[in-house]
Amino acid sequence: MHSYSLIAPAKINLYLEIIGDRPDGYHELAMILQSIALADQIDVRSNSNRTIHVHCNHPQVPTDKSNLAYRAAELMAKEFPEAFARYGGVDISINKQIPVAAGLAGGSTNAAAVLIGIDLLWKLGLTQSELEGLGARLGSDVPFCISGGTAIGTGRGEQLSPLPNLNNIYIVLAKYRSLEVSTAWAYKTYRQQFSNSYIKNTNDLVARANAVHSGAIVKAIFARDTGKIAEKLHNDLERVVLPAYPQVLQLREVFANQQGVLGTMMSGSGPTVFALFESEQQAEQVKLYVTEALTDGDLELFVTRTISHGIQVTSSV
Ligand code: C5P
Repeated sequence: MHSYSLIAPAKINLYLEIIGDRPDGYHELAMILQSIALADQIDVRSNSNRTIHVHCNHPQVPTDKSNLAYRAAELMAKEFPEAFARYGGVDISINKQIPVAAGLAGGSTNAAAVLIGIDLLWKLGLTQSELEGLGARLGSDVPFCISGGTAIGTGRGEQLSPLPNLNNIYIVLAKYRSLEVSTAWAYKTYRQQFSNSYIKNTNDLVARANAVHSGAIVKAIFARDTGKIAEKLHNDLERVVLPAYPQVLQLREVFANQQGVLGTMMSGSGPTVFALFESEQQAEQVKLYVTEALTDGDLELFVTRTISHGIQVTSSV
């Protein structure tokens, strides 16, 4: 086999709580991550010239080392030099459907697909936990993107425990094309404003357990109670992103006032805002209403749904 096509789904955060600082400079988190049907297609193909080459249909996506998919291939070449020498380089083609810099893990899911694609191309037979370990070296969301579904992420967000699957909760995503929020900026600003509430020793299990408030939404997920899940959505990063980006706040407010919306929240570090629905029809109606109410050509809206998987291989040649 010389090439593989993979589907790389986006994610939303149903829950994101910041607990404290970590010695490595990151934040200690409790997150609930959820895969959604909105996805990119990634093709990985062996080439014979020992180079890594990225091509993307989206002009805003870099094709050099600043692209996480490129760095995923580079990491594989460094970790498995014999396979790299034997099979040659890799051409990576990204068909981008997921909005860029949106808080939807678009870059992370592309990197996850490249790790899996190269594992197959080079016949390495890596386990899921080995792939997740490599993913964690690229970014905090990459390990989740590998197996996807519904999961709790702790630590930096990379230590995963699966939760019951939540299929077919319908979602409207809204993002202004030209609006981007830097994840590093969001966490740094949160630290500047709220670090007085951080627990000081994140290894203190009792203090951690007292600090985390995700119990109610986890219970709702086990009960598959969509209304309750929507009621318990939470994202600490809204505390810094909403005041700095009034357009994001406005989207939150417009969604909150629509009929059929069970709950609404910003995903990750934003600026994408999502709303949850029982039915596809309700989601389509609200998408139409918001498009007409805000009449802004810069605003993109998508109807999608929750799914129970991460990266999927769709074909091999
Ligand atoms: O891991 P990733 O590269 O996605 O993180 C982007 C940035 O977000 C990091 O450089 C860091 O500033 C911040 N971050 C954090 N704590 C986390 C995850 C990310 O402070 N748990």
